[in-house]
Formats: sequence, C-alpha cells, structure tokens
Amino acid sequence: MSKVTIMDHPLIQHKITMLRRKDTDVKEFRALANEIALLMGYEATRDLALNDIEVETPIALAKGKEVTKQVAVVPILRAGLGMVDAILSLIPSAKVGHIGLYRDHETLEPVEYYCKLPNEIDKRTVIVVDPMLATGGSATAAINFIKQRGAKKIKFMCLIAAPEGIEALTEAHPDVDIYIGAVDERLNENGYIVPGLGDAGDRLFGTL
Ligand code: PRP
Ligand code: URA
Repeated sequence: MSKVTIMDHPLIQHKITMLRRKDTDVKEFRALANEIALLMGYEATRDLALNDIEVETPIALAKGKEVTKQVAVVPILRAGLGMVDAILSLIPSAKVGHIGLYRDHETLEPVEYYCKLPNEIDKRTVIVVDPMLATGGSATAAINFIKQRGAKKIKFMCLIAAPEGIEALTEAHPDVDIYIGAVDERLNENGYIVPGLGDAGDRLFGTL
C-alpha cells in the first residue's frame, strides 16, 4: 500500500497559504513553489540509498556516506517544472526527465504529448513532481508511462491534493509513495481543487 505523507511542517503550511492567495503574483508564486518543494524534498529523500565512502580530512581519514547518483526527477509538464530546481538543489547529480500531459478540459482525461527520460531509469529512484493532484488522472497516467519505460522505484510529490486524487493514485499505483503539502476539501464540477489555488500552470507561467 502507498505510504501517504502529508506535510505538517509550519513553514510548509505558511507558504502554501501564501501560494493560494489570488493576489500572489507570478514571481512570488514561483519562489514559493520552489521553497515548498525544497522543504518537501527533504522528507521525500529521507530513505535515499547511500554508499559508504572515505574522505580525507586535514587530520585523518573519515568514514562517511554518499548519496548514490541514481536519482531522477520527472516534472509533469507544465506546472511540475516549478518544483524541479528545488530537487536539483538538494541532489545536484539527479537527472531530469520530462513528461508532457495536459488535461482535456472537456473530458478531464490526460493526453500525453511528450516523454523523455534519463537512461537507466530502472536503476533510479524517480521523483515525479506536479503541484496539483486533482482527479489523479495526470499523475496516474504519467506514472504508467514511466513504469512502461522500466522504472521500479517511484515517488510522487505534489503541493495540493484533493481526496479524490489521493484515492485514485493510491489505487492505481499502490507501490508509489506520495508526499503532499496540503489536502483540500474536494473537486468542483470543472475538476478544480477547492479551495486549491486555481490553475497551477497559469499561475506559474503567467498565462492567465
Ligand atoms: C494540471 C496540474 C496537473 C493536473 C492535475 O495540469 O499541473 O498536471 O492538472 O489534474 P488531474 O489530477 O485531474 O489530472 P494541466 O492539465 O492544467 O496542464 P498544464 O500544467 O499544462 O497547465
Ligand atoms: N489543475 C490545476 O492546475 N488546478 C486544479 O485545481 C486542478 C487541476
């Protein structure tokens, strides 16, 4: 069964509240999304594999640990792009894949338009990022595509989720651990999260 971690850190709650405000402009929205993803990334990387290494200090040899270089971050385009830099600042050696999906606004079904993943995806911990988990259709489809290309260890990170999306994603992919900044009340008749923050892609890229 999926492990679902809902962040209760005060800084995350504070920043998500700022992110929701309709008066938050593009520049501030981008900065907040990055900061929240950074704080969440700390938790999502808690169980990353380590190698034993030795380093020379000015005094002596020290036994230490090194994060294995086998991590990939995969944003779901477009809005997932706003969370990539945060993961890269935590794990500079991570490779970046991209999955292009959009929700058909009539059917709410995800449509794939692009997929490019790093090599040896089967050996990597893959962190899929998208600010919004609404119906769960996009995340479920993205993870289907990533699994079809061989990935075995996948985590999903989002800023805001609807209960409907959590249920759909955990049912479709019970092996994927999920990290969520805040769980909202419900979806509205247009598939938007209530209260949510509106259209994450538009707010991130100023295409309102
Ligand atoms: C948004 C969001 C997710 C998706 C969530 O993207 O970034 O990818 O909706 O909705 P779901 O859980 O119901 O699938 P959107 O489809 O609006 O595309 P965009 O990022 O290109 O704006
Ligand atoms: N996608 C968004 O960007 N916002 C929502 O509320 C739902 C899906």
